[in-house]
Amino acid sequence: MQRRRFVQAGAAAITTLSYQRIRGANDRVQVGFIGYGLIGKRHVLDFKDQPDVAITAISDTYGPRRDEAASLVGGGVKTYRDFRQMLDAKDVDAVVVSTPDHWHALVTILACAAGKDVYVEKPLTLFVREGRWMVRAAERYKRVVQVGTQQRSGPHYQQAREVLRSGVLGKIHSVRMASFRNIMPGFGAPPDADPPSALDWDMLLGPAPFRKYNPNRGIYHFRWFWDYSGGQMTNLGAHSLDIAHWALNDRGPVAVSSAGGRFALQDNGETPDTQDAIFEYPGWTAVWSHREAGAGRGGAAGLEFCGTQGSMTISRGGFEIFPDRKINPVNSIPRFTGAHPAGGPVHQPDSGPAQYWTTPQKSDPARPDQDQFKLHVRNFLECIKSRQQPISELESAHRVTSACHLANISLRLGRKLRWDPAKEEILGDREASAMLVRPYRKPWDDVLAGLKLT
Ligand SMILES: NC(=O)c1ccc[n+]([C@@H]2O[C@H](COP(=O)([O-])OP(=O)(O)OC[C@H]3O[C@@H](n4cnc5c(N)ncnc54)[C@H](O)[C@@H]3O)[C@@H](O)[C@H]2O)c1
Repeated sequence: MQRRRFVQAGAAAITTLSYQRIRGANDRVQVGFIGYGLIGKRHVLDFKDQPDVAITAISDTYGPRRDEAASLVGGGVKTYRDFRQMLDAKDVDAVVVSTPDHWHALVTILACAAGKDVYVEKPLTLFVREGRWMVRAAERYKRVVQVGTQQRSGPHYQQAREVLRSGVLGKIHSVRMASFRNIMPGFGAPPDADPPSALDWDMLLGPAPFRKYNPNRGIYHFRWFWDYSGGQMTNLGAHSLDIAHWALNDRGPVAVSSAGGRFALQDNGETPDTQDAIFEYPGWTAVWSHREAGAGRGGAAGLEFCGTQGSMTISRGGFEIFPDRKINPVNSIPRFTGAHPAGGPVHQPDSGPAQYWTTPQKSDPARPDQDQFKLHVRNFLECIKSRQQPISELESAHRVTSACHLANISLRLGRKLRWDPAKEEILGDREASAMLVRPYRKPWDDVLAGLKLT
């Protein structure tokens, strides 16, 4: 309670102070890291490379990770078991949140309230309502928040967006997104146990329901449990759908349906190893598919924009445009016997060279200096100074992540949902609407309530 009062009372003053501290051209942005795992380590290295950054703080719930991070930074860094103490520190202007998904919203909100700018990993949230709370917090406390959908910072993604918007593909009517991989038989089913003594299990669970420690629910594998994540739909799907929304300037689907399940993996995970989702937008559809229990030929994986004049495939390696041929549609009708019987369509042989609606195009291979993570960090730092919205701002990330959550709600209820993207409401389905929010565990419910964002 005492802490909450401090954070609230101090927010306005800290906002101004932290901005002033970093205003000078030569001043370095003092950055703290909350969560030093797979991606947290990558962020520490990328921020360390920036000439205008001083890494001043590290927080993780696991002691050995705090120690490793401190030694990687190489001095001048304070470590914190409890991230709230880091938020109170005067020598932290901005924080990078790389915790499991169920912590993203609350840590970001508290960091904003403490006057820190925030780089928060995707997927933005664990459930739909959290995103709007985050937007409100950033606005109220005038904070810059960058979301970790770093593909937007990739030059070839930016070029692709321009190309898509120029009309080269004609009318874009659909987007196909997929990730196929083979992790059979899964990651095992270890028994519940006592947590390692160096791990603050209660803090790692945070606002999630309490349960006994299980190694798969902790580091990295939290992704496969509904209490902490939305599985691959939100983990990888959020990256792909982000590019689709960004390129097509859409604010959200009007209907979402999804099916699948954990059909094959033989471990204690919960989220689907097989999932298909259909997102309906005015004038276009998007399809997401993931497979975890067999990669097949891998041919279906990736992101593809389909238009009336051609299609574009795009990945972190580059994009390519495949033009469609100008044809007489009647010639696309199959003939099994040379010609249709009397009264059927009559083929009209093409004459002259093949003609295409558009020209093939391929992006240059991404250069080493175009690393998306590093460029995304740079964009964040520039925005801290300019106070502009970063390239992956909160509002659009909230809308993308909401669509992914809707797919999971549809899958879990076994029915299609209709969505009003302006009101952010599921239409005509009380049971589904109740799943737009989840209670936080004590004391985090009071912490949230005290901020009056909901
Ligand atoms: N942008 C990308 O391409 C990308 C890539 C990988 C992961 N991610 C995202 O990053 C997040 C972390 O994933 P990961 O693979 O690095 O997980 P991880 O389990 O390796 O690391 C998470 C760390 O957070 C720590 N942690 C948990 N709660 C904490 C708290 N309250 N305070 C301080 N530390 C806390 C854990 O101890 C752990 O060390 C996920 O949301 C994931 O989706 C993004």
